[in-house]
Amino acid sequence: MAATVFVLNGPNLNMLGLREPSIYGGKSLKEIGEDCVAAGGALGLSVDFRQTNHEGVLVDWIQEAASGAEGIVMNPGAYTHTSVAIHDAIRAAGRPVIEVHLSNIFAREAFRHHSYVSPVAAGVICGLGPKGYILALDALKHMIAKGG
Ligand code: DQA
Repeated sequence: MAATVFVLNGPNLNMLGLREPSIYGGKSLKEIGEDCVAAGGALGLSVDFRQTNHEGVLVDWIQEAASGAEGIVMNPGAYTHTSVAIHDAIRAAGRPVIEVHLSNIFAREAFRHHSYVSPVAAGVICGLGPKGYILALDALKHMIAKGG
């Protein structure tokens, strides 16, 4: 049976395509989700792709992954830079998380240079646009196959 992985997206990512396309590109989140489901299928993963604007909902979903998914690809959006709650939820979930950002957060404002997620992530991909999600799925597949 295909392993289930969650692809979780945080605030404002529902606006992709319309939101600052010079930074985030022209693809909508729906298109990125379709690409993830297709790429996941080719890797033998069942991709559950979600987005919310609410921090607590992201925490709920990370907790759900502890029993409902083998791993998580996550773009926490602005909560990356603020959320101790997401940091703690990842620690407790015991599932590998790959942090993804469309933009290169280190080439942007100083307040984006710190991530509360990176210290508890299995890996981080940033600055590669939507391709980052696909690379993260590939990496997660290998981690799951190795048993974490
Ligand atoms: C982002 C980078 C964050 O700093 C920002 O708040 C976002 C998107 C990215 O994908 O590049 O909402 O996570």
